[in-house]
Amino acid sequence: MIQDIEKVIRSRKSIRTYSNIPIEPAVKQQVLDFMQANSVGLFGNKVDFYWIDGSSDKYKDIKLGTYGVISGTNSFMTGKITDSDKNFEDFGFCLEKLILYCANLNIGTCWLGGTYNKSAFADSVELKDGEIIPAVIPIGYFGTKKRTIDKMFRRFAGSDNRKPFDELFFLQSFSEPLSEKEKSAYSFFLEMIRLAPSASNKQPWRVILVDNVFHFYLKRTPNYNSKLLQSDLQLVDMGIAMSHFELALSEKKVEHKWSSQNPGLETEELTEYIASCKIF
Ligand SMILES: Cc1cc2nc3c(=O)[nH]c(=O)nc-3n(C[C@H](O)[C@H](O)[C@H](O)COP(=O)(O)O)c2cc1C
Repeated sequence: MIQDIEKVIRSRKSIRTYSNIPIEPAVKQQVLDFMQANSVGLFGNKVDFYWIDGSSDKYKDIKLGTYGVISGTNSFMTGKITDSDKNFEDFGFCLEKLILYCANLNIGTCWLGGTYNKSAFADSVELKDGEIIPAVIPIGYFGTKKRTIDKMFRRFAGSDNRKPFDELFFLQSFSEPLSEKEKSAYSFFLEMIRLAPSASNKQPWRVILVDNVFHFYLKRTPNYNSKLLQSDLQLVDMGIAMSHFELALSEKKVEHKWSSQNPGLETEELTEYIASCKIF
């Protein structure tokens, strides 16, 4: 269980510099147990999880490179998915829950969708045709000194900022902001989405509230090169956002139900419907 989801969501940050201190076997086991218990996403896709300990004999011949982005750990988590509807969203959903679970244990992580050696990681999980690893996650204790590359990444992506609330969340249509009434009822849950990590910090999630249903949309970043990366990272971002919303609703015991029935609302350019969450 993750306790005090707001505190955990607010404290999580991408960590790129680790301490070289290995995670103790008992703590690792806790994370592995959480993985196994949380391997199915909102839309029924199963993530086949791996913990890759790069310093173990099993992986000694594989160079798990990250182009120098990550230092101080050689342990990674990842998961395989197959090609099916909402597979990337479910991958993001399951892995972000795992990342928040780690944050709760004061363990650092960082989503890596681009800056890792794809073929080495594919080898390490014996990836077969039709299987995909959309991202990998380094895992370890925080290092004390931030390196230049670390600071550069944060500055380049603007990692410490998020878009204003009214640019992300709407009432009835994309042209109307939420009223004070809805804000006072729901801003906590929406704020948990706003704090989510996203690839290059693009924050592509948009949510429209219609009656008691939150409709989730993806506003694609123009020319964001998902083809090159072989996986649709902005769909992964959507799954991450949905996991924050789901965890916040569950903690506050708000009864709700997810579906993917497109309400047919008018959308803006480059914007696509993903899923809906009805509140009871
Ligand atoms: C799907 C996804 C892929 C990402 N890929 C990378 C990556 O390849 N390399 C990297 O250094 N950071 C990567 N990030 C981290 C983001 O840059 C970071 O989450 C964002 O800037 C917000 O910063 P924060 O996580 O510290 O809140 C990725 C994040 C997500 C969600």
